[in-house]
Amino acid sequence: MSKRIGFVEPPAPIHIELDGEVVEAYEGESVAALLVLHRDGMSRHDRDGDARGLWCNMGTCSECFVRLLEHGRSRRVRACLLEATDGMRIATGSHTQDD
Ligand code: FES
Repeated sequence: MSKRIGFVEPPAPIHIELDGEVVEAYEGESVAALLVLHRDGMSRHDRDGDARGLWCNMGTCSECFVRLLEHGRSRRVRACLLEATDGMRIATGSHTQDD
């Protein structure tokens, strides 16, 4: 079941890779929104193995770190500040343990 607002006409879908799974998104939609849709808002696990996820949704708490995989590298980014773009590759969970 979709969790998106139903009365808004969405733009053409794009596709991103989330933990190796191709998921549909919309250009400009936040990666945080995609975590809510596909990961119950969970972004990673901390050093104790506890699940972490969205909290402030405005870039200040750092609870939403995920890994952006691009150009053969991986870097931590805040999901709530990152807009989905076609072909983007994101890793959550154990791939995003604290550095
Ligand atoms: S949810 Fe707080 S920084 Fe993203």
